[in-house]
Amino acid sequence: MVEFIDSEHLSVKSFCIIPKISFGCNAKKDLVSALNERGLYRPFIIADQGVYQAGLVKLIQDLINKPGVEIGEFHNISSEPTLESMNESTLAVREFKPDCIIGIGGGSSMDTAKVVAMVFVCGGDLKDYLEGKPYNARLPLFLVPTTAGTGSEVTGDSVFSVNKQKRWISHSCLVPDLSILDPELTVSLPKRVTASTGLDVLCHALEGLMTSYRNVLVEMHASKAVSLVIGNLEKAYWCGNDISARYNMMLAAMLGGIANNNAPATFPHSIGYTIANRFNVPHGFSCEVGLPAAMEFNLPMCTDEFSTVFDACFPLSNKKSKNEKASALIEEIKIIIQKVNGYSRLRDFGVEEDLVNTLAEECYNLFPRPYNICQHNLEDIKNIYRKIY
Ligand SMILES: [Fe+2]
Repeated sequence: MVEFIDSEHLSVKSFCIIPKISFGCNAKKDLVSALNERGLYRPFIIADQGVYQAGLVKLIQDLINKPGVEIGEFHNISSEPTLESMNESTLAVREFKPDCIIGIGGGSSMDTAKVVAMVFVCGGDLKDYLEGKPYNARLPLFLVPTTAGTGSEVTGDSVFSVNKQKRWISHSCLVPDLSILDPELTVSLPKRVTASTGLDVLCHALEGLMTSYRNVLVEMHASKAVSLVIGNLEKAYWCGNDISARYNMMLAAMLGGIANNNAPATFPHSIGYTIANRFNVPHGFSCEVGLPAAMEFNLPMCTDEFSTVFDACFPLSNKKSKNEKASALIEEIKIIIQKVNGYSRLRDFGVEEDLVNTLAEECYNLFPRPYNICQHNLEDIKNIYRKIY
């Protein structure tokens, strides 16, 4: 018997899964065949300082280097890219004239790689595209994440700051040709980065379920991503060499990224954008601080979805009702945040109480989420800020 999804709000109207993904320990080797197959001999590597110092740029260079290949490289990407840093990378790329771009690192390197691959072909600079210049082409693009969180390796988004404000461009042409997901590249991740990026995965997965873009495929990806985080983040945090935990976290990040690419982020990310630059907070921490409160706010319209996620995480639980399971999921999210020393209050970042209303107004006006599944107004957002203060 064919079983149809009976709740209309979960019906699938469209769902996008690209790019090609090479996954697993030593998947990095697939980069060599990808370059060979396409006849690419002038790759340009974009990486951040941490990745460079950890020796991962050299590792990839040694892997792809052979007679006739010339490799360009720029590794001055900061942990939070800016318009200026994107332009600086673009200049380096223009000087080298590569035939493809390889982004190695976390979201900052991968988001920069997307931009330079596009701007090199389409001309101008990033500011033109923020102002509406059309684009639909880029250099061949390969992304090699070394964190498990952003999911940028499977999305068409690139996020950066302009005058300390978060901005982004988003287009299917920014999705890479190939993503290399090799958990071995994440074992040297420091604990704090493991925690922040891992909690970002929870946000990508769960925020999609709080939007009108959700569907059954988003729910499947999100459920699996959340269950992998709950089962593995703590292990990866305390024991970075646990390759099985790293493998599962990398898988979770990718699944969260796919969910996020089809059902965009909502208020936890907006809240994060209001505090990340001001208080120098890593992206994942800046978003997770608002996640439980946003789930509580949206609970009336998300009971089924949260209950399904809870079942995926705790199949042996004796909880019976959907309400019970959905509420229990929110409590479990609070627990995992605490277990990896995440943040549950804005004051822990140094936010002063008299700034709370200003931040809420900025969140509501600059980073609106009209597709958030529960209708809301400025007062609701202020209440969320007060709750998490
Ligand atoms: Fe994120």
